[in-house]
Amino acid sequence: MKYALVGCGRVSPNHISAAVENGLEITALCDIDIDKAKSVAAELPRGNDVRFYDDHRQMLEVEKPELTAIATFSGTHADIAVDCINAGSNVIIEKPIALSIADADRIIKAEEDSGLIVCANHQNRFNGPVQHMRKALLAGKFGKLFYGTASVRWSRGEEYYKSADWRGTWEQDGGTLMNQCIHAIDLLRWMMGGEITEVVGFTENMMHPYIECEDFGTAILRFKNGSYGIIDGTVNTYGGDYEETLSVFGEKGFAKLGGTCINKVDDWVFEDESEREPAADVDEHPPSVYGFGHKSLYTDVIKSIVTGKKPYVDSQAGKKALEAVLAIYKSAADKKPVKLPLESCSTLDFKDRR
Ligand SMILES: NC(=O)c1ccc[n+]([C@@H]2O[C@H](COP(=O)([O-])OP(=O)(O)OC[C@H]3O[C@@H](n4cnc5c(N)ncnc54)[C@H](O)[C@@H]3O)[C@@H](O)[C@H]2O)c1
Repeated sequence: MKYALVGCGRVSPNHISAAVENGLEITALCDIDIDKAKSVAAELPRGNDVRFYDDHRQMLEVEKPELTAIATFSGTHADIAVDCINAGSNVIIEKPIALSIADADRIIKAEEDSGLIVCANHQNRFNGPVQHMRKALLAGKFGKLFYGTASVRWSRGEEYYKSADWRGTWEQDGGTLMNQCIHAIDLLRWMMGGEITEVVGFTENMMHPYIECEDFGTAILRFKNGSYGIIDGTVNTYGGDYEETLSVFGEKGFAKLGGTCINKVDDWVFEDESEREPAADVDEHPPSVYGFGHKSLYTDVIKSIVTGKKPYVDSQAGKKALEAVLAIYKSAADKKPVKLPLESCSTLDFKDRR
């Protein structure tokens, strides 16, 4: 299957290794800075014949990839995704899939019109402990759900934000909720039953005066099934990436997943005898907070392309995670609760308002 990658920055090695490990034919690497595309080619197996491009439209026309991954600045995802779909390529779009509801809808419309596969790159859904929790949840082991929590307590300093102009801007990125926390927010929404009806949120910029957006955010979510979600996320944690956790509390049990990127089981407490101990082999020890999930996400997308079935993390999931973060931003800016679904909302709505 012919594959191309657009955007060859920090996260691109995860995409390249996922493509290699899944046996994709890597035909093109594209970056507006072509030297970056050339430098990540070092990740490719010896002898891989790859072409380099600085324009994704030209790349699509010449290479006609069947699958394209988009790992560019978040504000550019939607335009590039629609171009890829219109050129006949299935796509994996890095999170967040877009920065506005309108852009997410444009992607979904192009997907529906084309019948192609669109996957939102929330790779943590494939983490061993996350899959373990999901299995217990679907088997009804938690009973009625009461509430869940998602916490991201990481650290990003001036060097990180100054490494690229787009970071921390409303136009291309958003703050810590949109960038670092959206994986945990996706998992919380997915575990707690999916449909958020109301959000109350607060955001602050406490120690990064050189970025536009928040470096701390907290929110309470109400779900349609009567349960609640609590979120806290920050890049201000002293001393480095401390933890990213996901907890679910139900009438018949609770579980807390922890580690720096929801990669281990911290607590597993259930009424059901068969759930007295978590499975022994689900914890993971990834080298970075990006985890190991890209490989499984690619495997799933390839299967979807072959079978024509929706991927495990589809475009609607990407839109819902985006919508949850936008709702927190809106609540924080308007200083009042926000009802979902959002008809329209964009990170640009919050420029100079936070
Ligand atoms: N899934 C994850 O865990 C994860 C981790 C990190 C980043 N991300 C996401 O991946 C995306 C990239 O993040 P990053 O940290 O790698 O950023 P980065 O700045 O390191 O790399 C982005 C690259 O995209 C290139 N680019 C920008 N616009 C382009 C265009 N129109 N055509 C071709 N190339 C273009 C830039 O030149 C740059 O090399 C972001 O959306 C981010 O949120 C996801």
